[in-house]
Amino acid sequence: MNKLFHLLLGVSLLLILFLNPVNGYENATVPLVLWHGMGDSCCNPLSMGAIKKMIEEFIPGIYVLSLMIGKTVVQDTENGFFMDVNKQVDMVCSQLAQDPKLKKGYNAMGFSQGGQFLRAVAQRCPSPPMKNLISVGGQQQGVYGLPRCPGESSVICDWIRKQLNSGAYTSLVQKHLVQAQYWHDPLNDDLYRKYSLFLADINQERVVNETYKKNLQLLENFVMVKFLQDTVVDPVDTEWFGFLKMGQAKETETLQESVLYKEDRLGLAAMEAAGKLHFLASVGDHLQFTEEWFTNNLLPYLR
Ligand SMILES: *[C@@H]1O[C@H](CO)[C@@H](O)[C@H](O)[C@H]1NC(C)=O
Ligand SMILES: *[C@@H]1O[C@H](CO)[C@@H](O)[C@H](O)[C@H]1NC(C)=O
Repeated sequence: MNKLFHLLLGVSLLLILFLNPVNGYENATVPLVLWHGMGDSCCNPLSMGAIKKMIEEFIPGIYVLSLMIGKTVVQDTENGFFMDVNKQVDMVCSQLAQDPKLKKGYNAMGFSQGGQFLRAVAQRCPSPPMKNLISVGGQQQGVYGLPRCPGESSVICDWIRKQLNSGAYTSLVQKHLVQAQYWHDPLNDDLYRKYSLFLADINQERVVNETYKKNLQLLENFVMVKFLQDTVVDPVDTEWFGFLKMGQAKETETLQESVLYKEDRLGLAAMEAAGKLHFLASVGDHLQFTEEWFTNNLLPYLR
């Protein structure tokens, strides 16, 4: 009798261990890392703050980390204009590596320039593993024009435009102006290849770093969102990894028509064949989307 009791007790304990949903499902949600755009910060209640809150409501229990580059919100905003992007990526890589909640992997969503910065994280820092990368209006091939600044930073915007026109590829401007580090002048392709500190490196314009290629392949999905009425990003094709054809500044080409794709510098053709590349469009201006559009198009990648 006693023996049977113990046996039954043992079996039910085992059953409880195996069937208890809390064990299996606790934090079954994949954490999410957000990187804000230019002129914005980690925690602006009208932008990143609102998006974080919305996602937390849709996916209860999800851990959302909205990156702050620097020690304060003000520093974070300033660094979006003035801090060497390669340094920013390094900082983020070590922050992610030290976060125990990200150990098993995370999804990443970058807004505007945050989109290309997070791709650099994927290419340079495979641990912890990034699963889905979502570039929301990111400039994957850089910009050749800054028609309008987002938000209320028009004074800064005019100043930046002046710096870019006076010499985006001089070392001083490269080091200290974020937007110069993804300035892509199709009329000066050789200067871009040689002196662009950030974008020419991650797009493998100087050498093909096989590690970058290998790491990017580890993504489960690479989602790119283009805004069909974008008045901030020029050319808007860059949001789908297209750009201007070299040697002129009028005609554009798609990713698939580009040298980067044809020479297979990032392994994007293989990713496309594997169904990992997704080109989404949203009606509206830069970073303008409805909650409904977000739910239907991006939320599925975060679950
Ligand atoms: C699980 O999620 C909760 C709620 O977001 C969080 O407070 C907790 O730290 C998470 N635990 C782990 C181990 O990720
Ligand atoms: C390639 O990228 C890795 C990861 O960032 C880096 O450690 C390595 O030095 C790079 N190699 C070259 C040749 O640039």
